[in-house]
Order: sequence, then structure tokens, then C-alpha cells
Amino acid sequence: MGLISQHSIDAVIEANDIVDVVSSYVRLEKKSALNLFGLCPFHEEKTASFSVSPGKQIFYCFGCQKGGNVIKFIQEIEGLSYPEAIRVLADRAGVILEESEDSQWKERFDRQNLAYEAMREAARFFYSLLEGPTGAQARDYLAKRGIGRPLYRKYGIGFSPWGRSDLYRALREKNISDQAMLDGGLIRKSGVSDYYDFFHQRVMFPIMDTSGRVLAFGGRAIAGDGPKYINSPETYVYQKGKHLFGISQAVRTASKHWFLVEGYMDVLALAKAGLENATAPLGTALTANQAQAIRRYVNTVYILMDNDRAGREASLRSGEILQNAGLSARYILLDGAKDPDDYLSRYGKERLAEVLQETLDRTGYRLAVLKQDYQADHAMTESEYRDQALDLLAEEPDSTGREIYGGQIARELQISHRAVCEEIERRRGMRTAGRKAQDTAGDRLRKFPAKMKKLRPSFYSDDEVTLLMMLANNNKAVHVRLGIDDESIKAYTINKEVRTFLSSDSVRTPLGPHDFTAGPMRQIASQAIEDAREGRLTLAGLHSIVDSILATEIEVNEKQSRGLAPDPDRIHTVIQQQYQEMSGSQLVPEPEREAVIFEQKLSQRRLSGWRREASQLNQKARKLELEGSEEEAGYYYAKAADLVTAADILRMILQGDNRS
Ligand code: UTP
Ligand code: MN
Repeated sequence: MGLISQHSIDAVIEANDIVDVVSSYVRLEKKSALNLFGLCPFHEEKTASFSVSPGKQIFYCFGCQKGGNVIKFIQEIEGLSYPEAIRVLADRAGVILEESEDSQWKERFDRQNLAYEAMREAARFFYSLLEGPTGAQARDYLAKRGIGRPLYRKYGIGFSPWGRSDLYRALREKNISDQAMLDGGLIRKSGVSDYYDFFHQRVMFPIMDTSGRVLAFGGRAIAGDGPKYINSPETYVYQKGKHLFGISQAVRTASKHWFLVEGYMDVLALAKAGLENATAPLGTALTANQAQAIRRYVNTVYILMDNDRAGREASLRSGEILQNAGLSARYILLDGAKDPDDYLSRYGKERLAEVLQETLDRTGYRLAVLKQDYQADHAMTESEYRDQALDLLAEEPDSTGREIYGGQIARELQISHRAVCEEIERRRGMRTAGRKAQDTAGDRLRKFPAKMKKLRPSFYSDDEVTLLMMLANNNKAVHVRLGIDDESIKAYTINKEVRTFLSSDSVRTPLGPHDFTAGPMRQIASQAIEDAREGRLTLAGLHSIVDSILATEIEVNEKQSRGLAPDPDRIHTVIQQQYQEMSGSQLVPEPEREAVIFEQKLSQRRLSGWRREASQLNQKARKLELEGSEEEAGYYYAKAADLVTAADILRMILQGDNRS
């Protein structure tokens, strides 16, 4: 192991957003325009004086004066040396450390920086053209759309020239290399050493990251035919579905919620109304990645998309993605305009600002959409409208919600509130009854019009998370075996099966993936256990394993449109809480004591697993009994009873051990 190159260190800092890293340990809240605050993890406090600056990528505690960059943070919180902390962060972000200076890595890093420089210079060039004589037409266009100088400056808007390679030549003069321009997606090759510009005669919107670095552009046509918008291709510095337009301005506001709008012009429309906390997912539907990016800064998103079919669908879908990412989503339905920009030009900014205060929950939004359709569509009869509204309400999981919206529908349609509520409950009953019948007999019952409300069943129990947290805290626990000796088993009168089972190695074996609930939780565990065996599982590492596994899980689930993934946020919180509890209870310092606690937790986990298994066996036996296979049923009953006995014995042995 050589010295870690400065380039690698920079890359590690670059790849580990400090807000992300700190959030694994501290619950951060946005308290000022530029900083997030939380309770300092380095000293006891009741009011938050620990700050993190996403812009500067540093932390500082006003209470205990600890501060520094992301590496320093990991050093302090994990008690690691400088190079150790770098390795942890490199692992976390999947950065491969180069331990000598002249490496492939340095090349890649330099190349990226050169591409960023090219993008920055391009943005400057586009801006200067907008301000210059050739920009008159574009300035007129912007003015017509109500965008004046202060606003276009703030968003760094520019204009791309008509010439075939004006940008190319301008950047050459600034000593930007062809490669850097290609890497930024600014130019295209035609022939051996001939290049032409990607954008022509378009109003240019720079897409930036949170630190204001230009990653890509969107260009809107102002004349001629051709597509309305052209966006940069995926490049060395820009991946689609990861970034949001307007984010670098949004992070500078003190707002606790952001607006999610469809496009560039909508972000600007809100800015015109004085709201700079708006971001747009750039043509694509919102992705889980973008939701994660938002979650670094706010907990609530107001969805404000176009009021057309596509926009309404995108709203509901985005809401789901936001919720899966642990964010809360509110919905706004515009009335009498196509999009926020349209609304602003029709009704002015005061009314826009007003309407943006009226947010709805998901059911409220769906009802409002239905009502708009009913009012606009003369083919829909009142009874159809009522029927659809009632179906929709039957999907609302919260009884208060059903009550309130039921009252609203009752008043609107002048029917009795009680009748509405009864009808909703009747439809709910049919839904669950239908589900049960389908489950057991596979009956094809009446299909329910809309998707079932997604429940989030608890796929795992918190003690699984506890085990992993303890493992991260002390990797050696991975070797801890259950210490039940044959002597203690002998003290109990038990049948041969139970005795054999309790003496078998599968009972004593150290923590393994099979101690965890099958599915994502087991995947998380198996990765964590593997890392612990190699002695490199840290708390930060555990958090990132949870994220990486659940991120793919969420994506998979999105595809199948089932919201069944465990909630990563909840797991993060449990890890943090349990860790704080454990470190607070002075149990941490002695490794031996810790091993004992770990063993207890492991055995509790195992014996509750046996009990679960036993209850499944009992169910199976009961079913066989009903079907008349009594002999087979008897076999499963006996197995279940043995497991329960084994669990009881194990519990008694463990309690006995505790007493001595
Ligand atoms: P819109 O067509 O609603 O555009 O597409 P807009 O932002 O309201 O712009 P104006 O008001 O017509 O000028 C919404 C978003 O979809 C993406 C852009 O990000 C746009 O802002 N889009 C749209 C494209 O990428 N390409 C297109 O051709 C059209
Ligand atoms: Mn639009």
C-alpha cells in the first residue's frame, strides 16, 4: 500500500457528498439558506448547533468547534486515521484508490475537470452572446415570455449562435481542447479533424449541480422548425436521470419544501413569482436517483405538473417515487391553465403564489382531477362520477381521510354523509373479501378498477437491523457462536429430536444470511457479513449497503409498480437510534461484554425464527388435517412442537447463563 494520490483523495471527497455522509449519522434539517443543522454527534446538546454546508462541503459545530471536510468527519465519528477514513469513503462511493501519482485514475479525473472547464466556458460564451448584438432576437423572445435580465442572469441563461462552429472556435481560443469539448457533449465530429457545434440558435439553459458546476445544457428553439428542446447527450460529466434543472438555485433558498415542475420554463415561472425553490426532472419522469438528490435538502415536495393527461400521470408516478425515497409528497392541481408558466401569464404572480399554497394529498388530488374531468366532459353522468369517486375513496387507507372526503362528496352531490360512508366501507369490504377469496381459492372475482393502495408490509424486524448495527460497530462479532454446551442441554428432559437439533452445528453457527428475512434484508445482511469477515464493515458502510441494495430494489419495484420495498429511511433511522442507544448506555467500551450482548441478540433472533417456523408448520398441519391427511398433519404438528420446545430450552439456557 503506497501513498494515496492527491487525485484519489480529491475524487473521494468529490464522490462523497458531505450531506449524504453526515445524514447517515445525524438527522439534518434546513435552517438557513445555505446550511443544514442537526444535533452535534461529537458533544451532548439539545439544540442543533452542528452545521453542514452543501455548497462548501464542510461541517462545523458552533458548540464544540469541531469542523472540517467529509474525510475529517468520518475520522472523528468512526475514530479512524486519515488514510483509514479515506478508504472507508472510497469503499462507500465505489472509488478505486490509486496509490501512486501517475495513474489511469489521475487521467480520468483530469479529463473530467477539463470537461467541466469546457462547460463553464461554453456557458460564459452563450451568456455573452445573449447580451451582445447577435442576442437581440433571443432577448426579445425572453422578454416576450416575461424573463428579464436579473432572472436570466440568475439562471445563467444564454444563446447559441447560428454559425456552424462558432462555439468550437471561441473555446479553442480559450485553450479548451477538442477532447474536453467532446467530453462535455458540446461539439460533434464530422470528418477527421472537423467539428461542428451541437447547439444552434437556441436559448440555452445550463443544467448545474448543487455547487453550481455546469454539467449539460437544454436549448429551446426560438425560430424555425426542429424539436422545441434539445438536451445535451449523456457525457463524461452528465448522466440523464441524475440531475435536476434549478437545483443549484433551490439549495440556496431557505425553503423546507421544493416544487417539482415539468420543465425549464416552469422553473423560471416560479422564479418570476419569487419562488426559486423549484426543480425540473428534465424531460424524463422523475427517477429514484433524483428523488434521493432532493432528499439531501428537503423532506417535502410539492408536485406541480402540467394539467394534462401526461402531467397528471407523471404527478402520481413522481409522488410514488418520492414516497419510496422517504419524502412526503403534496400535489397541486392548476385550474384554468396548462402549466405554471401559462398560469402566471394568465392570472399574474399573486394568484399563482396563492394557488401554490393549496396543496392536496394523493386522494384529494385524484378527486380534484376526477371533478375537473366531470365538469369538462359532458359525456360523464353524475352517477358515473359518483361511482368513480366512491371507488377512489375506498382506496384511501386513512379512515379520517375517508370521512372528510366522504363528507365533501356528500355535500357536493347532496346525498347523506352516512350513506356515502356506508357505501365506501361496503366497497372496502368487497375489496378485502375479494383479495382473500383470490388468495385462497384463486377465484376470478370482480376486478377492481384502480390499483390497490400500496401497503408497506414490515419485511423484517428491527432486531435484524440491530444485529447488523452491532456487527458494524464490532466486526469481530461475525465470529461469535452461540455458546450452548451439551452439559446445559442435558439438564433438561427433552426428546431425542430436540436434543439432536440443539446440539447440531446449525444452532451454534455464527451469524449468517439465513438469520435474516429472505429478500432485500437478507441481501443487505449477506453483503454486510461478508464485509465484516474482512474486517471492513463500518456504520457508514452499512448505511451505504442499505442504500445500494434498496435503490435497486426500489427501481425493480417501480418497474413492476409494486411499492413493496422496505423503507431505507426507516432502516437508517433504526441504525442511528440503536447506535445512539448503545453508545449512550456505556455498554460499548468492553468488547467482551459486547460479544455477550451480541450473542444474546443472535440467539433471540434465532429462537424467534424457530417460533415463526413452528407457526408456519402448524398452519400447514391444520390444512392437511382439514383435507383428511391426518398422518401427514401429525408429522408437521410434531415438528412444530419440537421447534417450540427447542426455542423454550434455548431461552432457559440463556437466562440461566445470565444469572450465573
Ligand atoms: P414542455 O413542452 O411543457 O415545455 O415540456 P415547457 O418547459 O413548458 O416550455 P415552453 O413553455 O413550451 O417553452 C416540458 C419539458 O420537457 C422537456 C423539457 O425539459 C421541457 O422543459 N422537453 C420538451 C424536451 O426535452 N424536449 C422537447 O422537445 C420538449
Ligand atoms: Mn410546459
